Amino acid sequence: MAGYVVVGCQWGDEGKGKVVDLLGADMDMVVRFQGGNNAGHTVVVNGKKIILHLLPSGILNHDALCIIGPGVVINPFVLLREMKTLEDQGFSCSNVRISDRAHLLMPYHVYLDELEEKSAGDKKIGTTKNGIGPCYADKYNRIGMRVCDLKDWDVFREKLKFILEKKNREIVRLYDGKPFDYEEMVRQFEEIRGTLIPMIVDAVDKVNKALDAGKNILFEGAQANMLDINYGTYPYVTSSSPTSAGVCEGAGVSPRKLDRIIGIAKAYSTRVGEGPFVTELSNETGEQLREAGAEYGATTGRPRRVGWLDLPVVRQAALINGLTDLALTKIDILTGYETLPVCVGYRINGKEYDTIPASLKDLANAEPVYRYFDGWTEDISKVRAYEDLPENCRRYIEFIEQYAGVEICLVSVGADRSCNIIRKSIL
Ligand code: GDP
Ligand code: IMO
Ligand code: MG
Repeated sequence: MAGYVVVGCQWGDEGKGKVVDLLGADMDMVVRFQGGNNAGHTVVVNGKKIILHLLPSGILNHDALCIIGPGVVINPFVLLREMKTLEDQGFSCSNVRISDRAHLLMPYHVYLDELEEKSAGDKKIGTTKNGIGPCYADKYNRIGMRVCDLKDWDVFREKLKFILEKKNREIVRLYDGKPFDYEEMVRQFEEIRGTLIPMIVDAVDKVNKALDAGKNILFEGAQANMLDINYGTYPYVTSSSPTSAGVCEGAGVSPRKLDRIIGIAKAYSTRVGEGPFVTELSNETGEQLREAGAEYGATTGRPRRVGWLDLPVVRQAALINGLTDLALTKIDILTGYETLPVCVGYRINGKEYDTIPASLKDLANAEPVYRYFDGWTEDISKVRAYEDLPENCRRYIEFIEQYAGVEICLVSVGADRSCNIIRKSIL
C-alpha cells in the first residue's frame, strides 16, 4: 500500500503539475481532493504545454485512473470542456471518474464570485472568479447541489428549485444582479447529465480498496498552505484545505494510509491576487524575475507578483503537512544573480520572528530579515546530476533543506518533464 501526496508549499504555482506528471507514470490512480478549476497545473511534454484545471495531472499517463474526489467543487461545464480540449489533443479521458459526493459548482456561484469581488472594491480578494468561495460557502451552509443529485432527476430539480430561489434573491436584492431562469438551468444540466452519469463513482470505496490492494495512489493538491483557509493569510486565501490533512477530509482516506508527503517549493516566491507578501519585489528586479520565470497565471493570465524565497513560509508548510520530502522547482530561473537574498525571519515592530503571524496587520508591517547567498552564472538547465550543479547553487539548495528540516529529493531545472535532478527516489 502506498499513498503519496503532493502539496504546494507557498502561494500556489510551485510546479505541482509537473511533479505529479512525473510521479504519475508509476501510479495506478491520481486523485484531486480539494479546490476546483481555480487551479492551473502546467505540464510540458516534448515542448507541448498542457494546462489542467479540474482534471488530475495524472491524466497524461494513460494507465492511471483519474479521480476527482469528494472534497473538490466541480463545474461540470468546465470539466467537459477540459476533457474535450484534451481529447482533441490526442489524450484519452476514458479513465476520468468523479465522486458522487463532490459538490457541483453552479453557474450562480461563478456569477456571485464576480458580484462579490466587484462590490468589495479595494477589499477584494483577487479570486480567480471561478465561483470557488460561493460554492464552498453553500456546501458548509448545507445548500449545495451534489454530483449524486444528477442521478436522480426529481431530486435534482426539486433541490435546484429551492436553492435557486434563495440564490436569485441574493443576486437581485444584495447585488442588483440579473436572476437565473430555473427552467433554462434545468435544461442546461439535462443536456450534460447523460455524459456525466457514467463517470460517477463512490470514490471513497474505490480509493480505499485500491490502497488496501497495494496500489500506488497519488493525491494531487491544488493551491498551497499560504492559501489554506485555516493557515493562510486569511481572508486572502482560497476556501479549502490544500494540505495533507485535506487529503483525509477530501478523499475519505485515513492519515494512516499516507506514506509520503511531498511538498513542492519554488526557488523564489510568487503570489496571484491580493494579500500580504513580505518578500515582494515591486521593482525592476521583480519585473526581470517575472519575465525570466514566465510568471503569468495559468488560470487567469494575470501577472504573478514575485519576490525572494520566504523560508518561514516553506517551513510552515513542512510542519503543517508533515512533509517527508521536498521538491525544489525553477532554480534555473535564479541563474545570473550576483547575490540571492533569502528571507529567514520577519521584523515586526522591532522584534524578530521566524513564524508567520496570524494578524494581517502584523504581516503587512513585517520587514524581511534576509540572509544573502552568492549566486552563479552557469546555465544549469541541462544538469542532471546533483554534483554537477555550481557550488553556490548547491549551497542555496542545502540551506533550504536545513532551514525547512526536510530533504530535497528532486531539483527541477526546467519546465519539461525531463528536466530533473533526482537526488533520492521518492517511490
Ligand atoms: P502548479 O499550479 O503548482 O502546477 O504550477 P503552474 O503550472 O501554475 O506554474 C508553474 C510554471 O512553471 C509552469 O509554467 C511550469 O511549466 C513551469 N515550471 C515548473 N518547473 C519548472 C522548472 O524547474 N523550471 C522552469 N523554468 N519552469 C518550470
Ligand atoms: P494552483 O493549484 C495560485 C488564489 C487566487 C486568489 C485566492 C482566492 O495552480 O497552485 P479563489 O478563486 O480560490 O477563491 O481565489 O487564491 N489562487 C491561486 N493562486 N495558484 C492557484 O492554484 C490558485 N488558486 C487560487 O489568485 O488570490
Ligand atoms: Mg498553477
